[in-house]
Formats: sequence, structure tokens, C-alpha cells
Amino acid sequence: MRILVTGVSGLLGINLAMESSKRHEVYGVFNTNPLVNPLFNCISADLLGKDVFAEVFEQIQPDWVIHCAALANLDDCEDDPAFAEVMNSELPGEVARVTYGRAGLIHISTDAVFDGSRGDYTEEDEPNPLSVYGRTKLAGEWAVMDANPDAIIARVNLFGWSSRGKRSLSEFFFYNMQAGKPVKGFTDVLFCPLLANDLVATLMQMVQQKLSGLYHVVGSKRVSKYDFGLAVARTCGLDEHLISPISVKDFGLKATRANNLILKNDKLAGILPNPIPDYSTGLGRFYELYQQGYPQVLRSMVDNSGKDLNPYRNGG
Ligand SMILES: NC(=O)c1ccc[n+]([C@@H]2O[C@H](COP(=O)([O-])OP(=O)(O)OC[C@H]3O[C@@H](n4cnc5c(N)ncnc54)[C@H](OP(=O)(O)O)[C@@H]3O)[C@@H](O)[C@H]2O)c1
Repeated sequence: MRILVTGVSGLLGINLAMESSKRHEVYGVFNTNPLVNPLFNCISADLLGKDVFAEVFEQIQPDWVIHCAALANLDDCEDDPAFAEVMNSELPGEVARVTYGRAGLIHISTDAVFDGSRGDYTEEDEPNPLSVYGRTKLAGEWAVMDANPDAIIARVNLFGWSSRGKRSLSEFFFYNMQAGKPVKGFTDVLFCPLLANDLVATLMQMVQQKLSGLYHVVGSKRVSKYDFGLAVARTCGLDEHLISPISVKDFGLKATRANNLILKNDKLAGILPNPIPDYSTGLGRFYELYQQGYPQVLRSMVDNSGKDLNPYRNGG
């Protein structure tokens, strides 16, 4: 199977490409953060250019597209709502239009479409995003549903290793504690994260099952961000006393964070042959991957030369 992964330089994209290229022919699209000598095929493209996604699609002719590219930083979205709209709402609609009837599509969305006032959200529950990020991602879901009713829309939350070591909460706790630095963890933000590598395995099972529609693709256990930090420390042999509890309200973040983003994954769990993993088994694997040198492999793919590899940048 040939798979096109957008956002391949990001946290989910690079893990998707690494894992799925073991069995499939993978083409990843990056934009401003080139990957060098990747273990899969890569293309450079600014997907916001006119018809650029359609051109990449024609060039690669994939069987499946997994659309991970996004403006995924909540505070950046507050700073530039118009850009967030184009990236998170309009581009997914274009990807959905181009793929409809021609290739399978997984569109990656987020738990942040909910306001977090009660938790235990199912796919039937009404979203009510609190931030520009959540609002634009929800509009992206609607655009995908309108243009491509066959698409899978996966609301996710994830942690893991990234190419720059800075994209996930687990890396934040791990690297700070490893350096002996004190960190704070929110006691009043609950979530159900999945290790990126486990998320990829789950998404690939969804492809095999030929699913379509909206799914909560999150871990099977809930945890506060503070307790998640403690679990990182305990799993990875780091000093948990470096973590202090704090309320998200006292942290002064730009974008409003939802408190209770516990999503139920029962709809998907009832379909898949294997159980959906949880964060604690995921953290065990996170540390195993560290011991096997996986973060170094990802880091070795980051290009610092500044060379422009983008064939589409000059109106191509
Ligand atoms: N990380 C999380 O905790 C989390 C939680 C819930 C949902 N999600 C969702 O999961 C998906 C992946 O998130 P992530 O954390 O992996 O994101 P990320 O690490 O911030 O990566 C974003 C990716 O989008 C690409 N991109 C941005 N603008 C582009 C453009 N104009 N053309 C082509 N590519 C462009 C970036 O490419 P360059 O860097 O090369 O420019 C990068 O590869 C997103 O849909 C996000 O909303 C993430």
C-alpha cells in the first residue's frame, strides 16, 4: 500500500512514517523543517499554495492519505487566528475534496474540540471548543465530513518522541528531569494520551478494517498532566520530586485550556480486534524506545543546512 503522510516533520507524522514504512511504501510531506536522509520517501511542499496538495497527490497517487499537517500549537493559533483557519479548517477541506473517491483518508483532529466541563465524551456529544485551535480544528472536521463522507476523522491525543525533542509533554518532563530541572504539572487537566507509535498501530488497524466516520482514537486510561509527569519519572528512573503540582489557571497560558478532556474510545474499541493501549504501557515503550536510540534516529533526520528542497515554492 502507498501512503501519503502530511506533516511528516511533526510529532505524529514522523512516527507514522517510521512505523508504517516497515510494511508500506510511505511518502511524507514536510514544509519548513526538512528531513534529511529519512528512512522513507519525502517531498517538500507548502500545502497552502494553490493546488499544491492536488499536485502532490497526482505525483504520488497514494492509496491512503493521513493528514497530520496542522497549526497544532494552541497559543500560536490565538496569535494568528486567520492562519489557523486556513491551516486547520480550509486545508483539510481541500485534502478531503482531492481524495474523495480516489484514496482513503484519515484526517487527524483533536480532543480540544470539547470544552472539558464534564469529560467522558463520546462521538455523539456536542463539541464546544474554548480556543481558536479547537474551533478551527472542529471546522476542519466539518469541512472533511462535507467533502469526503468516506473519510476517517480521528480525534487524538498523543505523546512520544519527536525530531526536535520538543513536541510532546512526555519529552518536556523527560528532558527537564533528566537535566535535574524542576517542572510543574497541571493537576486539573485530565486527558487520555496514546504513545504516538501505539496511535499509529491503531490507525493502521482502522485502515485495515476500512472504517469511515468520526472516532475517538485515544488511550484507554485517563490521567492528569501532573500524574502523567510522575509516571514519566517512575517509568524512566527519574526524580519525581522535581515535579510540583499546579493548577492550569495559575500558569497564565494564552489559549484557554479545557480541564477534563477524557474521551471515551468505546466506539472504536468495539470494532478493533486488539485492545487500544493506554498511557502506562505506552510510557514503558517510550522508555524502551529511548534505550534503543529511537530519539537519536529521529534527530538525525533534522536538516540544519538551510537548503531549500521545495520544488513548489516558486509557483510550481
Ligand atoms: N501533539 C499533540 O499533542 C496533539 C494533540 C491532539 C491532536 N493533535 C493533532 O495531531 C496532528 C499532528 O500534530 P503534531 O503534534 O504532530 O503537529 P506538529 O508537530 O506541530 O507538526 C505540524 C506539521 O504540520 C506541517 N505543516 C504546517 N504548515 C504546513 C504547510 N503550510 N504545508 C505543509 N505542511 C505544513 C509542519 O511541517 P514543517 O514543520 O515542515 O513546516 C509539521 O510537519 C494535528 O492535526 C494536531 O492538531 C496533536
